[in-house]
Amino acid sequence: MRMKLTFIIFLSALIVLGNSDPHCGYEACPKIDPKLFTVHLVPHTHDDVGWVRTVDDYYYGGNGVRGIFEGVVNELMINETRKFIWVETAYFWKWWSETKKDDLKENVKKLVANGQLELTGGAWSMNDEAVNHYQSTIDQFTWGFRRLSDVFGDCGRPHVGWQIDPFGHSRETASLMAQLGFDGLFFGRLDRDDKAHRTETKTMEMIWRGSKNLGEESDLFTGALSEGYTAPRGFCFDIYCPEHVSEDNYKEKVVKFVQIAKRQADMYRSNNVIWTMGADFAYTVAKRWYSNLDVLIRHVNEVSHKTGVAVAYSTPSCYLQALNAENRTWPVKEDDFFPYASEKHTYWTGYFTSRPNLKKFERDGNNLLQVCKQMHAITSSGESDDLNSLREAMCILQHHDAITGTEKQHVADDYAHILSRAISRCDTSTSQLLKLLTKKVDSQDTLIFSRCPTLNQSECSVSEESNTFVVTIYNPLAKKVNKFVRLPAPRDNGFTVTDLSTGKTLQVQFVPIPRSVEAIPVRLGKAKHELIFEAVDLPPLGFKSFHVSYQGRSRRRVLRDTNKQETDISNEILTISFDDESHLIESISVNGKKTKLTQELMFYKSGKASLGLRASGAYIFRPDPNTPFAIATDKVKINSYKGPHVEEVHQVFSDWASQIVRLYKGASHVEVEWLVGPIPTDDHVGKEVISRFTTKIDSKRNFVTDSNSREYLNRTRNFRETWQADILEPVAANYYPITSAISIEDEETKLAVLTDRAQGGGSIADGTLELMVHRRLVNDDNYGVSEVLNERQMGVGMFARGRHLVLVGSPTSNVTAQERTLVQQEMVLPPVLYFSPTTLSAEEWKAKYQTEFSGVKMELPENVHLLTLEPRKDGKILLRFEHIMEKSDDLRLSRASEFSIQDLFEAKVQKVTEMTLGANQILSSSRRFKWNEDKFTSGTKNDQDRTAPERNVIQSSDNFKVILYPMQIRTFVVEF
Ligand SMILES: *[C@@H]1O[C@H](CO)[C@@H](O)[C@H](O)[C@H]1NC(C)=O
Ligand SMILES: *[C@@H]1O[C@H](CO)[C@@H](O)[C@H](O)[C@H]1NC(C)=O
Ligand SMILES: *[C@@H]1O[C@H](CO)[C@@H](O)[C@H](O)[C@H]1NC(C)=O
Ligand SMILES: [Zn+2]
Repeated sequence: MRMKLTFIIFLSALIVLGNSDPHCGYEACPKIDPKLFTVHLVPHTHDDVGWVRTVDDYYYGGNGVRGIFEGVVNELMINETRKFIWVETAYFWKWWSETKKDDLKENVKKLVANGQLELTGGAWSMNDEAVNHYQSTIDQFTWGFRRLSDVFGDCGRPHVGWQIDPFGHSRETASLMAQLGFDGLFFGRLDRDDKAHRTETKTMEMIWRGSKNLGEESDLFTGALSEGYTAPRGFCFDIYCPEHVSEDNYKEKVVKFVQIAKRQADMYRSNNVIWTMGADFAYTVAKRWYSNLDVLIRHVNEVSHKTGVAVAYSTPSCYLQALNAENRTWPVKEDDFFPYASEKHTYWTGYFTSRPNLKKFERDGNNLLQVCKQMHAITSSGESDDLNSLREAMCILQHHDAITGTEKQHVADDYAHILSRAISRCDTSTSQLLKLLTKKVDSQDTLIFSRCPTLNQSECSVSEESNTFVVTIYNPLAKKVNKFVRLPAPRDNGFTVTDLSTGKTLQVQFVPIPRSVEAIPVRLGKAKHELIFEAVDLPPLGFKSFHVSYQGRSRRRVLRDTNKQETDISNEILTISFDDESHLIESISVNGKKTKLTQELMFYKSGKASLGLRASGAYIFRPDPNTPFAIATDKVKINSYKGPHVEEVHQVFSDWASQIVRLYKGASHVEVEWLVGPIPTDDHVGKEVISRFTTKIDSKRNFVTDSNSREYLNRTRNFRETWQADILEPVAANYYPITSAISIEDEETKLAVLTDRAQGGGSIADGTLELMVHRRLVNDDNYGVSEVLNERQMGVGMFARGRHLVLVGSPTSNVTAQERTLVQQEMVLPPVLYFSPTTLSAEEWKAKYQTEFSGVKMELPENVHLLTLEPRKDGKILLRFEHIMEKSDDLRLSRASEFSIQDLFEAKVQKVTEMTLGANQILSSSRRFKWNEDKFTSGTKNDQDRTAPERNVIQSSDNFKVILYPMQIRTFVVEF
C-alpha cells in the first residue's frame, strides 16, 4: 500500500488567537474552544436570481433583495460579532452600481474588510449543476469574482462553494470549484436514501474526488447540510416564523438548542456543526433575526460549561476552518449526486429537459458570447458595455431556476428577453468589429453583418430576399474546421456560390424544406428549399467570406436526385438502411460492418398526482405507465434526397413529430434533426417525448454520460455506488442529465449520441439509449412554481427542433475522441454566419474587402482547446487552454500536448501569469486546506495515485511554452 503523507499546513485558527485586529477571511473567524461542541450559526438569505418572480422584481419589488441587503448591513454595524454571508453577486453588483448611499457603501467595505460580511460562492448566480455547460460555469464564476475583487480586493475573494438549493450535484462542479481555489463546498439537497445512509454512517461530510484525471487538484471537501438550508425547527426568526427567544422562554430554548446540537453530533464526525440560519429571501427584517440570535447566543454560552455546547456567529469558511483544525479523517466520494429523489417516487429528472428552447437558446448565447469576447480581444478593443451585458445575461441564465426550466412562464419569458437583448448588443459590437477586420481600402460604407437567429427553423430574410449577398463565417475554435452551410432559399436553382478567398465557384445542392418545418407557427420565412455548400478550411479564430448570387435559371440544372424507391443513404464511410415495413432506421453500417439499430420518436404519458405520488412537473419526471408509446400509428412517411453534399431521409411520424436523418459527405456520424410540437394534450394527459435507439449491444446495465460536457461517468441501471438502492421508479430513477453525450458499448460495438442542449436520458433496457427531447404537461408537481409546464406559442403548444449526432464504432476505434471533437465543432462552438446583402460582384467584393482572416498565427494541437480568449479591464488578455481528452480516451490523443503562447500571437508577449481557474488569484499564491482520507485496505479506490498533473513554469526564455495533460485547464493573464 502506498503511504499517503498529508500535512496540515493551515492552522490559522490557533495562530490568530489573541489578535485584536481581525481581518477578513479565516483571520476573522470566531475563536473556538476545542473542548466544546461548537454550533456555527450562519445567517444567510437564499435569493434566487429569478424564479416565481423576475430578477428585477425580486430586487426592486416588495420585500425585495435591495431592502434585505441594506437591512442586514445596518444590523451588522450594531455589533461586530454578528456575521452574514452574501452569495449572489448579481444582486450585490446591482446594489453597488445603482445605490447613491455612499455612507452605506463605506460600511459595506468595512464589514467585508473585517470579515463580518463574507462573500461566499461569489458567482453571479447559484448555477444549476445538471444542465449547464462547464464553460458557462467557469465564466459565471470568473465574472462574479471579477466584480467582487473590483470592489473589495483580496477580501472579496470567496473561499467556499455554496450550492444549497440546486437539485443534485455534479462531479464536474466539484472539480471546477477545487480549481477555483475553494477549500470546500456545502450543499443542501441529496437523495433521501443517500442522506439517511450518510447520517447513519457519519459520511455527510467527505472528500469528493472531482476528476479521474486531475488528481488532488480536483479534490474538494464537501458537506451535505443537515437541514437543507433552513434553520432547525423552532429557531427560525424571520417575520413569517412565530418563534422568538426572550428572557421569558430562553431556558426551554437553550434546552431545545442543546438537544438538536447533540442529535447532529451523532450524525456528523466532528466537534463542530453548521446551522444555516435563513431561507428563501429571508432577512427582510434583519433586526428580528439578530436580536433573537443575540439573546440565544448569550444564554447558550452562559451554560456551555455544563452542556458542553457553545455557539457563535460564523460563516461556512470559518466552520470549514474549525473542521480542518481538528485534523480528522474523512470518507471519499467518487461518483456524483444524480439523480436527486426527495421521495420514493419523486425523481427530479424532468428538469433535465424542461423548456428545451430556453436550454438551446442558452447554448447559442454561449457560442455568441465566446465569439464576442474573441473579437474584442483580437481587435484589442478592450471591454465594452455590450460585451459585459452578454456576460451578465449568460451568468443569469446559469441560475438553478433559469436554464433548468423550473421558473414561471413570465420569468422564462423575461430570461429569454434578457438574453436576446444582450445578444443583440453583442451582435452590434461583433458587426462593428467585423467591419474593422474586413476593411481593406479606406472607404465609408454602410456594410452590415447581421445574423439570422432563426436559421434553425430554416428562415433567413437576407438569403431569402437578396439576389446577391455575402456570408462571412466566423470560426471560434483555434483550429481549422469545415462546415456544410445550409441557407434557406426561395428557389432550387440558379444560385452561384463563390469562395471569395480562392475565387472558386462551389458546388451547391438543394434540399426541400419539410412541410412540418413550414408549419411552425412563428416561422415567417417563405423559403421552400435549403441551399447547401461546403465551406472548407475556416481559419482558426477567424473568418472566410462566401459570395452568393442568384442569376436566374441556370442553364445546367444543379444535380438534384430524388428517389422515393431507394431509401438507403450512404457516404464514403456509412450506410443507413430503413426498414421496408415501418420506415424506421433499421441498421447502420460502418465501413461495411453492419450494426442493427432502430430509432424512433415515442412518448411517455405523464403521471398524475395521487396518494403518495406526485405528478410529472417542471422538476419531476414520473411516467405512468413506465413504457413509452409509439407516436407513429402507421408506417412512418418518408422521402429521401440525395446530392453531392448530403443524403437525407425526411421522416414524418405524425402531424406533431418528424425528423430528418442526414449523412454528409465524409462524415463519420449520422445527424438526426428532430422536430416536435405542438404536443397534443387535449386528452388531458401530459406527454414527454423521447428519441429511443435500440440495438443488440450487450450493455449489461451500464452506460456512460458526460458531466457538464467534460469528464464521462459510468452509470449502472438501478444501482447507486455508495448505498443500497431501493428503486421503485424504473424509468425516472435511471434518468441522468445529458449535457453533451451518452453511450453504451460491449466488446464489439459502441453507440454514442451527442446532444445540442441538455436533455434527460438513460439506458432503460440493455442495448437501448433514450433522450427526452420535449415535454408538455397538464399538472404541476407542487414544488413551488404553482404553474403547469405548458409552453405555448401563438395559441398552440411550443415547437422544439434540435439535433442528435449518432456515432457507431468499435470500442477500440476512436469514437470517444470523435465525440469530444464533434461536440465542440457541431454543438458548442459551431461557426457563426454573418450576412451582408450587397450589389457587388464577387470580384468587386474581393477588391474591396478582406475575405479571410485568422486571429491566431497557428492552429492549436488537435487535443487542445482554446477555452477562453477575452479582454480584461486592465488591458490585459485572459487566456485558458484545455486538454480535451481524458487519460483513457485515446492512445494518441490522450498524450500530453505542447505548444507556445508566443507562437500563437503576432504581437510580442511580454508577460504571462498563471492564475487559478476563476482568474482572481495568482496560482502560485493559492493554498488550499489539506484533508486526511479514511484509511482503506490495499486495493480499494483510495489507493489510487492522486498526484496532480505537472504544470511547467511559463517563461519567456522558452517562448512561453505550455504543456497540458489530459483534462487540464490552465488559466493565464497575458500582457502584450
Ligand atoms: C456584541 O455582542 C457581544 C455578544 O453578545 C457582546 O458581548 C458585546 O458586548 C456586544 N458589543 C456591543 C458593542 O454591543
Ligand atoms: C494530523 O493527523 C495525522 C494522523 O492522521 C498526524 O500524523 C499529524 O501529525 C496530525 N497533524 C497535526 C498538526 O496534529
Ligand atoms: C466504466 O465502465 C467500463 C465498462 O463498462 C470500464 O471498462 C471502465 O473502466 C469504467 N470506467 C471507470 C472510470 O470506472
Ligand atoms: Zn433557489
